[in-house]
Amino acid sequence: MTAVSAPRISSRLAGIKPSPTLALGARIQRLKAEGRDIIALNGGEPDFNTPEPIIEAAKLAMDAGLTKYTPTPGAPALRAAVAEKFRRENGLSPRPEETIITVGAKQAVQNALLALIEPGDEVLLLAPFWPTYADQVRMAGGIPAIVSTEMSEGFQPDLDRLKAACTPRTKAIIINSPCNPTGAVLERPALKEIASMALTRGLWVISDEIYERLVYDGFVPQSIAALGTEIAARTVTISGASKAFAMTGWRIGYACGPLEAIQAMNLIQDQQTSGAVTFAQEGARAALALPDEEVEAMRREYDARRELMGRRLLAISGVRLQMPKGAFYHFPDFSAFLGGRAQDDFALAELLLEAGVAAIPGSCFEGPGHLRLSYACSREAITLGLDRLEAALAGLRA
Ligand SMILES: Cc1ncc(COP(=O)(O)O)c(C=O)c1O
Repeated sequence: MTAVSAPRISSRLAGIKPSPTLALGARIQRLKAEGRDIIALNGGEPDFNTPEPIIEAAKLAMDAGLTKYTPTPGAPALRAAVAEKFRRENGLSPRPEETIITVGAKQAVQNALLALIEPGDEVLLLAPFWPTYADQVRMAGGIPAIVSTEMSEGFQPDLDRLKAACTPRTKAIIINSPCNPTGAVLERPALKEIASMALTRGLWVISDEIYERLVYDGFVPQSIAALGTEIAARTVTISGASKAFAMTGWRIGYACGPLEAIQAMNLIQDQQTSGAVTFAQEGARAALALPDEEVEAMRREYDARRELMGRRLLAISGVRLQMPKGAFYHFPDFSAFLGGRAQDDFALAELLLEAGVAAIPGSCFEGPGHLRLSYACSREAITLGLDRLEAALAGLRA
């Protein structure tokens, strides 16, 4: 038999990187298992347990035999509850058939990209951004078009920079408010400008609002699709159970948008995962029916941790910080400490890991010079982690 060359992995994956946040998380788990003492400020998930009524609802669902497929776009009762949630909390008015339940919000973003863009299309991303967006755009055959935002401008987008990045191939913009990693919340004037640009340039808007319940300083989150029917007709609004209800492992996301887009997303999901886990959907239905106080108690605790971590960071000379308005991350700028023993934010994160505190390099989010520090961990962990960080930075200065 003549041997031919071995089959290759698809070129579709050229340039796709493993999720840096998940990779660092796995590495820290390994180091901890080897006995290393590490304060993990790298996490992207709530440290709270899923509230009991949600767990109870899923158990009851299993006992009642809800262990079979649901329709691909979700159990009708959950879709109705999600439509009601988007009406109540977001000022939108989707019919249940204009909603879809996905396997985490991550799948909703991927479905939307696969459904809405053509190979070669450009998708605007506001940096710093969650790295998954760029890789999902590439997996859909698109090209990420990165537009920077500045900490000194509260990470709000600059319209001129956005317009300058638009080309005839620009097909969509992804926005994320509150933002992972900056914690910035897009203000109404910025949303109006983005909406008006999307309308005049004929763009789709993918609005990832997964952190919408975790906002501080009295901020009321705002959905771009609520600005008017025209912008609603070209926006896919995405949220999910993972962050607000401490349900990351349940893998339930949801989205709403124009019927045509949701049907296209459904078509993709039909050939991909089918519906999300049936009893997890029942858990999500219980989550959406929880009294506000359940989420509010967690939000208040995040707020206290945000203040604690913010105060500690601001007390370190040379650290620049924009107080986050939402999500559960600080994204301070450590540029003043770079160039010597720590050449860049990757080297700084390595050095901090040696010192027993884990953070994610800002470059993973297209925010070089920064680190992402999560406050989805106990106050004790924050205090100890910041003690180590402060000592390591003092060592760098010396
Ligand atoms: C901005 C953003 N969107 C979506 C997700 C994914 O959410 P899920 O776990 O529901 O897939 C994350 C998770 O870290 C995120 O930070």
